[in-house]
Amino acid sequence: MTPRSLDRIRRFLAGHDVPTPCLVVDTDAVATRVRELLAEFPHARLCYAVKANPEPAVLRAVLGAGGGFDVASPAEIEACLAAGAEPTALSYGNTIKKPADIAFAWSRGVRDFTTDAEGDLASLAEHAPGASVSVRILVDGPASATPFGQKFGCEPERAADLLVEADRLGLDAAGIAFHVGSQQPEPQAWEAGIAAAAKIFADCAARGVRPRRLNIGGGFGITYREAVPQLAAYARAIRAAVAAYFPGEPEVLLEPGRAVVAEAGLIRTEVVLVSTRFGRRWVYLDVGRYNGLAETENEAIPYRLEPLDSGGERGPVVLAGPTCDGDDVLYQRTPYELPLSLRAGDRLDILDAGAYTASYSSVAFNGIPPLRTYCLEGGTLADGT
Ligand SMILES: Cc1ncc(COP(=O)(O)O)c(C=O)c1O
Repeated sequence: MTPRSLDRIRRFLAGHDVPTPCLVVDTDAVATRVRELLAEFPHARLCYAVKANPEPAVLRAVLGAGGGFDVASPAEIEACLAAGAEPTALSYGNTIKKPADIAFAWSRGVRDFTTDAEGDLASLAEHAPGASVSVRILVDGPASATPFGQKFGCEPERAADLLVEADRLGLDAAGIAFHVGSQQPEPQAWEAGIAAAAKIFADCAARGVRPRRLNIGGGFGITYREAVPQLAAYARAIRAAVAAYFPGEPEVLLEPGRAVVAEAGLIRTEVVLVSTRFGRRWVYLDVGRYNGLAETENEAIPYRLEPLDSGGERGPVVLAGPTCDGDDVLYQRTPYELPLSLRAGDRLDILDAGAYTASYSSVAFNGIPPLRTYCLEGGTLADGT
C-alpha cells in the first residue's frame, strides 16, 4: 500500500476507538488503481470483480474512476445498481447461476454474461433472450497463488461449438473469456489464453459467427511479502500478445479484483494469546481464517504484518486465529518473526488486506461477527460505513 494510504488509515485509527479486528479501506486508493489500470489499457472496459470487496464506498470509487463491475450473483447486481451503476456497466461473470439468477439479472437490465456449459447457455437463451455471451475457456495458470483448478472454463476445443450454439439460440456470441488464476505473478501467463481465443475467433468466423470480445479476466498480482512485477509489466505483456495474435483490435474487457482493492486496505488486529508449545511460540490473533483471512488457506497469501510496537528482538512464531477450529492456523510453514516482547492485547496491522478478506468472513462461526469494514473517502469516514 502507498505511504499516503497507510498514513490516512493509521490517522483514522488513532482518532477513533474502533474495536478490533477491523478492516479500513482508503477508497481514494481504489479510484487511483482503477485509473492506473485504465491508463495501461486505454481502449479496454474495466469491470471490477465485486467479490473482492463489495463495500458501497468501494463500488462508488470504482464507478467514479470510470470502472464497471463483474458480478457473481443477484445480490452483487443490487449492490452495484444501488451504488449508481447503469446495468449496462455490469457483466455477469459467474458461470454458475440458477435460471432465476439469470432472469433476475435480465430483468434489471444486465446484458453481458459469461458461460462455459450447454446447460447454462440454454438457461441464458430462455431467461436472457438476445444477451451477449462470452464463453469462458480453461487456461492453465500454475504460478497463481490461488488457482481455479478445473472448476471453470470449457476446453478451448469446445468453445467455438458453444459460440456457434449461442448464435443459433438467438444470443449474441460476443467472445471469449479466461482467467489465469488470482495473484498471478507471471505476466506471460495471459499469452496462452489470448492465443487460444484468436484461434477460436478464426474457427467461429469460418462457421459464419464473428465474436469480437476478449475478456482477459483478473489475476494481476500485488506485492504482499514477495514482489511481483509492476502493473505496467503485466500490461506490456498482455498488449503485446493481443497485438501478436489479433490483427484487428478486439474489444478488451478486464475484471480485476485484487489489483483494485488489496493495497487500499489494512486490518488492525489484537493478540489474544501468546504461548509456547513443543518448542514453538504460538501467537493467536483476533482475526483468523473464518473472520477475514480465508486466503491464508494453504498459506497461499503471505500478508505483511506490522506490530504497532515493533521494537526489540524478534523471534519465529506460528500464527493462528481465534476460533476453536484446528484449521484456523494462518502460518506454520511460512516463516514469520515478531517481537519477543509481544503480549496479549498488543496490536498488529495486516497490510494490503483490502481484497478477499471481509467478503470471505463467516457470519458467526464460534459466535464471532463478520470482519467490520470502515471506508474512508478523502481520509474521513465514508457515508454508509
Ligand atoms: C470471473 C472472475 N473474474 C475476475 C476475478 C477477479 O480476479 P482477481 O481478484 O485475481 O483480479 C475473479 C476472481 O475470482 C473471477 O472469478
